[in-house]
Amino acid sequence: MSERLRAAIGTTSAREWLTTAKGLWDPGLRAAVDRLDPHMRRVAAYHFGWVDADGNPSDGSAGKGLRPGLALLAAEALTAGAAPRPDGPGPDHPGPDNPALPGAVAVELVHNFSLVHDDLIDRDEARHHRPTVWTVWDDTTAILVGDAMLSLAHEELGLAGATGGSSYAVAAGLALTAATRELIRGQAEDVIFESRDDVTLEDCLGMVAGKTGSLLAVSASIGAILAGADQKTVDGFHTFGFELGLAFQIVDDLLGIWGATEVTGKPVFADLAAAKKTLPVVWSLDHGCDAGEQLREWFARRTARSQADTEELQYAADLIEKAGGRAWAAEQADAHVSAALAALEDLPISDDGRATLTDLAHFVTERKS
Ligand code: IPE
Ligand code: MG
Ligand code: MG
Repeated sequence: MSERLRAAIGTTSAREWLTTAKGLWDPGLRAAVDRLDPHMRRVAAYHFGWVDADGNPSDGSAGKGLRPGLALLAAEALTAGAAPRPDGPGPDHPGPDNPALPGAVAVELVHNFSLVHDDLIDRDEARHHRPTVWTVWDDTTAILVGDAMLSLAHEELGLAGATGGSSYAVAAGLALTAATRELIRGQAEDVIFESRDDVTLEDCLGMVAGKTGSLLAVSASIGAILAGADQKTVDGFHTFGFELGLAFQIVDDLLGIWGATEVTGKPVFADLAAAKKTLPVVWSLDHGCDAGEQLREWFARRTARSQADTEELQYAADLIEKAGGRAWAAEQADAHVSAALAALEDLPISDDGRATLTDLAHFVTERKS
């Protein structure tokens, strides 16, 4: 187990953990991207912030690395202090320091496949403070580089299994495939709901569970799978990540309305402009009394993806606030963090691991970007 990672656990904040973990998975991600042909490699490198649009090295802002950090943390929390597994990497066996490393790289690749396609689907022009791939190149390039990332993710796990680096790579690959299938279901519903005016809270929760819950869930459980944990433990981590995913998306929905573009790096009001049925919106439509009724009228006047000016969007945001959707969503995010923490209770993890996982759960709702 990496000394650097072990030193970080429990003694540092979630943010510091994510930075330290990145030192481990980032080289693996770069090595995976290096396997692509030069054109796709350059587009992927741009998306990850490693080069600018002209291909010159750059230190562009990137994501938080929550998913790979979680995968490595789950494995670390389970194996810290434990005896080495008989099939684990030994001195003659140049495997990764942390058994979850191929899983960490794979979940980051699947996440970024979904982001590149998501920006194209949503026609969002900025992410991480930079123009999105489809705006710099074109739709075809965005589709292809997303596909490339998805194939690299599974190649990563396949390589880990085929080279003897992990006995659990097949199980990890199956878990990741199932999560990706769920993510695609959620993304499809997210778009279909834009043009529906009868979306229920249950529909909306099901959509969020798919588009965001599934990948956070597998990010945690893949760490446990690759560390050789039993099914009950894998399921516990799955629930932890899933609940965290729901909290994450609710915070994302709130930041999409009341976040600051300078901090989020994403356009504000994009969800409202696209008539997205996010959780604060759907709750307000159903429970918002007069403000909810006015919001329903506002949505009825709009056709999905038609132009709306900032004043009109601000009016809708104010209605959601008045209807109580903002406060409700914030409470829900906290409730899902509590559910995530409850799932950790019976897991056979180290105290330090529990402390860092707990801090990570709070980090999700406290984030501003
Ligand atoms: C997030 O989509 C889920 C996936 C990318 C699968 P959103 O459209 O809700 O999120 P942002 O705000 O663009 O990141
Ligand atoms: Mg989007
Ligand atoms: Mg989207």
